[in-house]
Amino acid sequence: MERIQVAYINNLSERLGKSVKLGNLEIALFKLSNGEVRAIENSCPHKGGLLSQGIVSGEHVFCPLHDWKICTGDGEVQAPDEGCVRTYKVEIQDEKVYVCL
Ligand code: FES
Repeated sequence: MERIQVAYINNLSERLGKSVKLGNLEIALFKLSNGEVRAIENSCPHKGGLLSQGIVSGEHVFCPLHDWKICTGDGEVQAPDEGCVRTYKVEIQDEKVYVCL
């Protein structure tokens, strides 16, 4: 598994998404209000809305386009909508945030 540094923890704002490009991959990073950092694919399974621009509530993000609710933990779209996004493991070490691919 490859581990790539994508941010410094102090540069992430709570509940504000940040998009990170890694080659062809675009990831949305979120620092939740409990301090945990989550990384998911930055594209809504509905019509590709940029999830990094969504509103974060608890561990969910609401897509900015049509408000689908997606869990940043397992990537599942919440009912009544359906689908899922890829999630990535995050590690934090010495203030650095890494995504594992
Ligand atoms: S594109 Fe995300 S809800 Fe429609």
